[in-house]
Amino acid sequence: MVSPPREPLVAALRGALDDADYRVDTVVDLLGASAHAALGRNHTVPGRRVLDDDRSPLATLARMWLLQDSVDRSAAGTALPGLVDELVEAQILESDGDRIRAQVDIRPYGTDAPVGHRSHDAWIVCDLTPGMDGQIDQVADDYVLGVSSASTTLAQLATRTRVGTALDLGTGCGVQSLHLAEHADRVVATDVNHRALRLAEWTFALNQVRVDLRHGSLYEPLGDQRFDQIVSNPPYVISPPDTAHLTYREQTMPGDQLVREVVAGAARRLNPDGTAQVLANWVHPVDGSWTERLAGWVKDTDCDLHVIERELLDPAEYVELWLADAGLTADSRYRSASRAWLDHLAALGIDSIGMGWIMMVRAGREVPEITVEEWPHRVMQPVGLEFAAWPARSRWASADEDALLATRFAVASDVVAQTHGRPGATDPERLILQQTQGLCRTHHASTAVAGIVGACDGELPLGVIIDAVAQLTDAEPTALVDEVMPDLRLLMRYGMLTAAAGGVDR
Ligand SMILES: C[S@@+](CC[C@H](N)C(=O)[O-])C[C@H]1O[C@@H](n2cnc3c(N)ncnc32)[C@H](O)[C@@H]1O
Repeated sequence: MVSPPREPLVAALRGALDDADYRVDTVVDLLGASAHAALGRNHTVPGRRVLDDDRSPLATLARMWLLQDSVDRSAAGTALPGLVDELVEAQILESDGDRIRAQVDIRPYGTDAPVGHRSHDAWIVCDLTPGMDGQIDQVADDYVLGVSSASTTLAQLATRTRVGTALDLGTGCGVQSLHLAEHADRVVATDVNHRALRLAEWTFALNQVRVDLRHGSLYEPLGDQRFDQIVSNPPYVISPPDTAHLTYREQTMPGDQLVREVVAGAARRLNPDGTAQVLANWVHPVDGSWTERLAGWVKDTDCDLHVIERELLDPAEYVELWLADAGLTADSRYRSASRAWLDHLAALGIDSIGMGWIMMVRAGREVPEITVEEWPHRVMQPVGLEFAAWPARSRWASADEDALLATRFAVASDVVAQTHGRPGATDPERLILQQTQGLCRTHHASTAVAGIVGACDGELPLGVIIDAVAQLTDAEPTALVDEVMPDLRLLMRYGMLTAAAGGVDR
């Protein structure tokens, strides 16, 4: 087992990584975009060709940690001056005669910073990626996954509003906590896997981030502590309990019970106005409604729930996906594993499996707002910005009609209008309002709705604009209000219409 991070060693390692400029940008520059992209697909050979004669510290670190190559002791010593023996002792590196190689992965992690998010330049400590260059590697039960596409999706779904306390449930290599530490006063991270906790400890020490790490399952290690934000990318893969062995992705509870416990537990542990963001898979049962099942997970709580299903797979597609993810496609056990898995899903009465995002806000409404929807369309991340605005949007969308008519609204800056019709036709057949950020919602608008939305520039109250459009179109104003209000409320909910600064006009 990797030793706990000791401060003098970690500080010296941080200094060496800094001196070598071991960062995402410099590594991409060193390897070139094509070899770097190949590494992302687990192919090291393009990178090896580029680094052939390069003995710079940056090339040595990239060779050891990204290409998983061994380097000679003198090159390792130049890149990590005075640290090689201590890192071998700590089981971060291993030595074989004169050759030094990585035993765990240390890699730069960076994110671009879209509006509202801070950019990141950090190092992640995790287990080495298996299956490089087509190898079939046996992955240990306690394997600690690095930053996956699911990790970055959750990082972009998570709201980044300043909070007091945040929880990262199932921290793994610690990536979500690194993000949370940017905007939370205190971060607690849990994991059931001791190895994950140890590697996360290294991640936090290397990046000088304070996180309270706790061992245990789900909310067990937290007593009755409550949080302003909970994020989780839990082991949601629904697999047969007797074959489930990869702690990072699957567990032994039947079906989607673990996800249900994450969600129901979050509803009980959020502070007022607290939010939760969870990545998940869920069951569509052969009998019954999947949307009602998921809505039931927050029953008798005062939490709003928004479930977005991004993908729906039938059992065969699901099993293929996760067997391939475990590198078993070319394995002799493929057929038997596939059969056992399909039999298991059938025995649980599973028709298909949804994959997507679950967002919660402890809004404290008497009747919580529950939305469970399919949205398989293109989105523009970070969707987290949109979820941060959700409570305010839904307050406007359900506000009293008189208040809405008296309020000045503005059309959001990312909304564009598209018209569709025959070339040369005087009037369009369809008019579509389209968001270009976040969930990229679209709305088919009538000419009246489009005219009203187009006039919403934050200057005039909504009621005045509707009256003006009624005059222009010879409509009766009250009838027009009745006609357009459902659409306008929906546009408020989507964030296409937002209350202008100052809001209400009386
Ligand atoms: C998919 S990984 C997510 C890692 C990281 N948070 C991320 O976003 O990349 C799931 C993590 O949950 C942990 N885990 C598995 N079962 C758990 C449980 N019952 N309670 C808490 N954590 C658990 C695993 O060990 C693993 O580190």
